[in-house]
Amino acid sequence: MTTATQHHCSCRGTHSCAHESAPRLRSNAYVAMVGAHDVLDEAFAAHQDALVEGRVLEAKERFFAFRDALLDHMQIEDDQLLPVYALMPDPPVGGGVDVFRAEHDRIRKLLGEFSGLFERLQAPLASRDLVTVIERQRLLKHVLEHHNLREQTHLYPMLDQFDDKGMLLRLPTPPCPDLGRTAHAV
Ligand SMILES: [Fe+2]
Ligand SMILES: [Fe+2]
Repeated sequence: MTTATQHHCSCRGTHSCAHESAPRLRSNAYVAMVGAHDVLDEAFAAHQDALVEGRVLEAKERFFAFRDALLDHMQIEDDQLLPVYALMPDPPVGGGVDVFRAEHDRIRKLLGEFSGLFERLQAPLASRDLVTVIERQRLLKHVLEHHNLREQTHLYPMLDQFDDKGMLLRLPTPPCPDLGRTAHAV
């Protein structure tokens, strides 16, 4: 059951409007997708904990689990969310579907680079190598932080317009060429 939302305009929360001042309850789908980001962030942090504490084999396993979960998450977005989002009118600046797809490509490339690195990595890890890995991972963390924030600001609010069976609750209102004329009842 989708939780009722207080936000009834079609702005997808991308600008300030009168509804913004109302308490806002999110759909289950929105909460689930944001929760997935939190789980992925925690998985990456646990991987880095293991790495820093010298548990190299565990760190490798945790990285590959994180990578697979993130790839699955992005595949859902690519296959199920972005095709619908692409149909929404007036994408916000910095929130177009091409931006999300380009960021997914970049994240996949970075994950591929780290996969190669961790496949080659042997225990024990020299402290200098550890510093190098952690420093390189800052870029991945930085890209993910910005990507997740962009999704939670622009893409995921779209989910509030669907119920739990994926049915659209409120269709975006297209501009009506017949505005001002008398509508004929069908
Ligand atoms: Fe994404
Ligand atoms: Fe995401």
